[in-house]
Amino acid sequence: MKQIKVGIVGSQFAAMLHAESYIRLPAVKIQAVASLKNSENFGNKYDIPNRYKSYKEMFDRESLDLISVCIPNFLHKEVVLAAVDAGLKAVISEKPLATKVEDAREMVEVCRENKVKLMYAEDWIFAPALIRAKQIVDEGGIGEILYIKAKESHNGSHSVYAQKKEYAGGGSLIHLGIHPVGFISYLAGSKIKEVMGMTSGGSEKNLVHHDYTVEDWAAALLTLENGIKGFIEANYITVGGMDDKIEIYGTEGNIHVDLTKGSPLHVYSRPGYGYAIEKADFTHGWTQPAVDEFMSLGYVNEMSHFVDCVLNDRNPQPGVRGEDGLTALEAVFAIYKSAAEKRLIKL
Ligand SMILES: NC(=O)c1ccc[n+]([C@@H]2O[C@H](COP(=O)([O-])OP(=O)(O)OC[C@H]3O[C@@H](n4cnc5c(N)ncnc54)[C@H](O)[C@@H]3O)[C@@H](O)[C@H]2O)c1
Repeated sequence: MKQIKVGIVGSQFAAMLHAESYIRLPAVKIQAVASLKNSENFGNKYDIPNRYKSYKEMFDRESLDLISVCIPNFLHKEVVLAAVDAGLKAVISEKPLATKVEDAREMVEVCRENKVKLMYAEDWIFAPALIRAKQIVDEGGIGEILYIKAKESHNGSHSVYAQKKEYAGGGSLIHLGIHPVGFISYLAGSKIKEVMGMTSGGSEKNLVHHDYTVEDWAAALLTLENGIKGFIEANYITVGGMDDKIEIYGTEGNIHVDLTKGSPLHVYSRPGYGYAIEKADFTHGWTQPAVDEFMSLGYVNEMSHFVDCVLNDRNPQPGVRGEDGLTALEAVFAIYKSAAEKRLIKL
């Protein structure tokens, strides 16, 4: 079987999501990892032969077909541009594409000019429950879509980089809210036209995390170019595990998706056990542990799609192209502007 060689930049949380997905794909060999810290442990865990501290050295010394960029937001641009410089031909950037719209635009343009496939890792597009919801929508099962409401929330990021504006570009909105923003546009088949946003504002203005310089609560009303209405929510104040919910309202019906808490498993445990769902504090008492988050949150299908694009020289599908990462970021920054200026912003 033809195999592609993958290099992962980063070795913590997102890198683990990518690696856990790649190891299920027979067409992939994870050839190398580059990370400031922990690349040895990560390499041992996933049986990766070559480990580096510097991603530039990895790009120079390895012959790689696909790169996973799994390091903090402010570094996405420099890693993608370094990959292009090194002559690599396919790069997956984790979300958000960048911390500034101008940087994201430059990444898309440089990749286009150099015929590099830039893939934007929006995993919601590949979550099985959302794939099924879209099929029902596409076959007319709920009539015409009128309104989509979606949120991602949990109790705060494990990553110190995500807590500081200079590294992350923003808080719960750019980190978590970018999922519903990207997904709503994809499902509606239309760009976001205008937004009305509100955020907690960061630091002392936050609801809970006064040590974060980025906001820990954000919400926005949206209108898409085709008239569909939206409402997105993203916060770091939700205890009890990650809470991702999507509601789609149509002229003939509606769909409700519980992406994170809909497990068919119900466990009662007195002593507790290892792990239930992402960001949950406890596993004792009654819990609903995820069966397979790598699959249910879309990561396995996502990597499978990107690997197929490389193997068969296809372009990424709508929702996960570099330009989709750019339009999602434009909407996110329009929401920040709306929140700051307390008015409706047209994109
Ligand atoms: N799609 C998702 O569901 C999802 C989930 C979590 C994180 N992410 C995204 O993934 C990215 C990484 O987040 P994370 O949670 O893994 O962060 P993290 O803080 O857990 O890990 C950061 C990693 O980057 C490495 N690193 C930092 N600077 C580096 C440099 N200059 N060169 C090489 N390595 C460097 C660190 O060693 C570490 O391995 C972020 O952009 C985040 O938004 C996406």
